[in-house]
Amino acid sequence: MRKQWAVVGGWLLAALLMPNVVAAVERAASRHPPGAAIASAHVLATDAGFEILRAGGNAFDAAVAVSATLSVVEPISSGIGGGGFFLLHDARNNRDVFVDARETAPESATPAAYLDKNGELDADRATNGPWSAGIPGLPAALVHLAQNYGKLPLKNTLAPAIRIARSGFEIYPRLESGYGSRREVMERYRGTRALFLADGTPPKTGEIFKQPDLARTLELLAAKGFDGFYKGEIGNKLLAAVEEEGGKWRADELAGYKIRERDPLRLEYRGWQITTAPPPSSGGVALAQMLQILEGWDLSKLDAAHRTHLITEAMRRAYRDRTIYLGDPDFVKVPVARLTSRDYAAGLRATIHPDKATPSALLPGLPAPLEDDETTHFSIMDVEGNRVSATQTVNLVYGSGMVAPGTGVLLNDEMDDFALKPGTPNAYGVMGFDANAPAPGKRMLSSMTPSFMESDTQLAVIGSKGGSRIITQVLLAILAHDAGLNARQVAALPRFHHQWMPDVISAEPGALDTDTIKALQAMGHTVNAGESPWGILQTVVWDKQANVLSAGTDPRNPVGKAGVVLTP
Ligand code: GLY
Repeated sequence: MRKQWAVVGGWLLAALLMPNVVAAVERAASRHPPGAAIASAHVLATDAGFEILRAGGNAFDAAVAVSATLSVVEPISSGIGGGGFFLLHDARNNRDVFVDARETAPESATPAAYLDKNGELDADRATNGPWSAGIPGLPAALVHLAQNYGKLPLKNTLAPAIRIARSGFEIYPRLESGYGSRREVMERYRGTRALFLADGTPPKTGEIFKQPDLARTLELLAAKGFDGFYKGEIGNKLLAAVEEEGGKWRADELAGYKIRERDPLRLEYRGWQITTAPPPSSGGVALAQMLQILEGWDLSKLDAAHRTHLITEAMRRAYRDRTIYLGDPDFVKVPVARLTSRDYAAGLRATIHPDKATPSALLPGLPAPLEDDETTHFSIMDVEGNRVSATQTVNLVYGSGMVAPGTGVLLNDEMDDFALKPGTPNAYGVMGFDANAPAPGKRMLSSMTPSFMESDTQLAVIGSKGGSRIITQVLLAILAHDAGLNARQVAALPRFHHQWMPDVISAEPGALDTDTIKALQAMGHTVNAGESPWGILQTVVWDKQANVLSAGTDPRNPVGKAGVVLTP
């Protein structure tokens, strides 16, 4: 039946036929994995994690190493000038915790500050330069992980990232083309020019890119912890850079940044316990809504067109609620219990016609373009059973484009994830209302959805990059794991997406075949097939029954690496 589900699905066929070459071994059933597994978007980051595990670290130490190394080698996606979410499973205490290292709004970031003289959203201010940047959270997360969950000091766990920042790494095509797309913005800023035009020309594939200032900033973080970034020399340089470019951050806002530990959101789906991101991520709530709507059907018994139709309708309804209800729970009351209840999902399910698209225009909203973004995800499991599912970001390609001189820190442009002008779509085409309006110290709504899924026999650690499309990728990955695909196949799946507005199904090449597209169109859907791939999904899977560990990284990202190391 499972194979039939995949084959009938069409969009799964290519992945199903791929050979599973993931390193794995079978052993007697065990309460602990047979080794460790890491999947990340860059080989150097995955290798940094294994280096730390070999040095006696646990999954949380490895997470510090992977996170910091991604900050160095994938500056287009994430960095210590940005933020992230770390979903942890602490095996010793059998505890799941969600470490919220999301950026916060400075007091200067009032809604009025983002309007132009005609009262329209100033998109340049929202996405480029100092006004687009929130107070970074990622450095605080690295310190928090090391102090509360790791075994090794930051001096050890940051060592690979510091080494690579100083000695350099090879530029790959995504970095080069991303720079090209953001060049005008990036070269507005003195610090960015000093780093990216150090040899007089923009970064080119194959060149070695060195970041000596970033190496030194990471050394100060390793030596002084929180204060090494948020106060003293680096803190002062960050404040001066923001001021030099016309923005306003106060020293107490930087020094007062706080990590939040939150209870993850939990739900059940067809025998799986899903543990996922609570607000200020919209991911977990939307995931709960979509999965609980879909629970009403046996997807394996449907043809590809009807299955895609029903999944799309679930996506449409969840993304509409995202816009209206979700924001930072420290500032607004988010009706999580109601939105994630089975009764609410049943009510939404009842509004879905089995063969007809519901026009999004029947619900209030405005059409807006879809855009791709950066962000990155990594998944880790260690031999003790500790797990990390982490998604981190500077938001759009190369964040704000602005490097603070003398620090190597590229600031995020996460302020665009607020509803800066309620009812106006942000760069991903998603809108927000009052729940996600900016306020001093508030965290902007996110789509990052680091997740675990566990049944009696399987355990998976999953997540992806992709802006507003992160949530639907995690949804499709959960459905694919449930359908019996292995880690590598799940990471390789072509994806489709609907986010209520614009009212269109976007699809990566190979996600929907011609007959399925025609059938969807006959049901009233608009389909935009053949878009460029938008995600980089990472999954690590432990088959508890067979005691087999495997890992998968998206093959569309040639610099990624998923690896398994078995302990003797
Ligand atoms: N900046 C992308 C996200 O947080 O969802």
